[in-house]
Amino acid sequence: MSWLSSDSMPPLTDTHTPDLQSNIAVIGAGYVGLVTAAGFANLGHRIRLADRDGDAIAALARGEVRILEPGLSEILAAARDSGRIEFFTDNIEAVGGADVVFLAVPTPEGSGGQVDLTFVEAALTEIGAVVSAPTPVVVKSTVPPGTPGRLLRALTAAGSNSPLVLNPEFLQEGRAIEDVMHPHRIVVGSADRDAAALVAGLHEPLGVPMIITDLESAALTKYAANAYLATRLTFANAIAHFAESVGADVSDVIAGLSPDPRIGGHYLQPGPGYGGSCFPKDVRALVAAGDSLGHDLKLFRAVVSTNDDQLDRVVAKVSGAVGPLEGKVIGLLGLAFKAGTGDTRSSPAVALAIRIVAAGATVRAYDPAAEVDIDGIEIVDDPIEAARGADGLLVATEWPEFAEIDPARFAAVMRGRSVIDARNLLDRDAVVAAGLEYQGLGR
Ligand code: UDX
Repeated sequence: MSWLSSDSMPPLTDTHTPDLQSNIAVIGAGYVGLVTAAGFANLGHRIRLADRDGDAIAALARGEVRILEPGLSEILAAARDSGRIEFFTDNIEAVGGADVVFLAVPTPEGSGGQVDLTFVEAALTEIGAVVSAPTPVVVKSTVPPGTPGRLLRALTAAGSNSPLVLNPEFLQEGRAIEDVMHPHRIVVGSADRDAAALVAGLHEPLGVPMIITDLESAALTKYAANAYLATRLTFANAIAHFAESVGADVSDVIAGLSPDPRIGGHYLQPGPGYGGSCFPKDVRALVAAGDSLGHDLKLFRAVVSTNDDQLDRVVAKVSGAVGPLEGKVIGLLGLAFKAGTGDTRSSPAVALAIRIVAAGATVRAYDPAAEVDIDGIEIVDDPIEAARGADGLLVATEWPEFAEIDPARFAAVMRGRSVIDARNLLDRDAVVAAGLEYQGLGR
């Protein structure tokens, strides 16, 4: 798959500085932990990577990286070959001899949208029994505002006087290695200035702005970043929706907004709603964090519900185009939450498929990197097969390869004529020229 090729791999930065080497323990070898470990290894630090999943650690020790992220396996292989990374299944062993400990354990969504901190607190309790000042304990996992005090209490209750530091990540899937090696900024929060300086110092060779602040501000910065971007996407979808009511073309409207440097062009592409492992969970968690403090974050509540409504709007477009969905066949192009990844977590494409199936239709889906096992969704291994016999074709993920297919090839195999482009990806004129009926968002 082209997006995994080494062409897309960012070059290794040669910032290896032996005299600045630290021993860094990273607890958690999931997505964030692996990318964090790779970033520090690439800066020349020695990594002690731990995960209680023995199979995952054994695979990593053999040089197998199960997470698809351009450049990740190459950096981990280089670190392994040069002996700069060791693997552990025991957290206590991993933190032994570490100058600094990073926690990158999961923070799943609890009932009611609030974040479940069980894994973070358990890890703090476990390692708190053996780490002490001046070794900082750095939480890389995303923890909501209002909770750092609780984390500090878990650490001290375990008998540790280690300083607690928050160092949120801003990694985008599919470009996480680029993001970790060339970040826009590093945010470090702690009540302990020396600990914050030590953690900031680890990132010094990156030469990027460092924001050193308190724990709550660091936690809020992460949520504010994701809430801002999610709000921006919701704004774009709201403008696209209104554009339909007035007969405007949202693509031209965005083209008219973007040159203004106060606005810019990123994160304004209308779509079926934001998805992925971060935005949906984090915006809900921010609202829940506000609720728990008696603070009604109305703006973000509206973002959450507007984003949910977007799925209904797209399904309504599909049924508007093909008629009642009962008994219909819908070809679905895309299952991943965005192009460039095989991740279907909180994927709007999958959510659309589930709704369409619930309305009585059959979905034939193709994605170059993702699949799902859900009743009513048939996975095919070719985009033309997804269109075969379909009453309507729905584009749900913006894989560039979908736009490269001659729409006449879809027209030749479809039963119906409707193409619903929920990513405004296809060339509208080419679709119409192929004898199909095109509907995008806001155009
Ligand atoms: C995001 C943040 O970008 C990252 O900083 C944070 O650490 C984790 O969450 P990611 O989940 O990888 O990263 O996805 P991103 O590329 O930001 O896209 C999020 C969602 O917005 C996707 O569903 C995507 O399709 C959608 N999107 C993005 C749009 O609909 N339109 C756009 O213009 C951009």
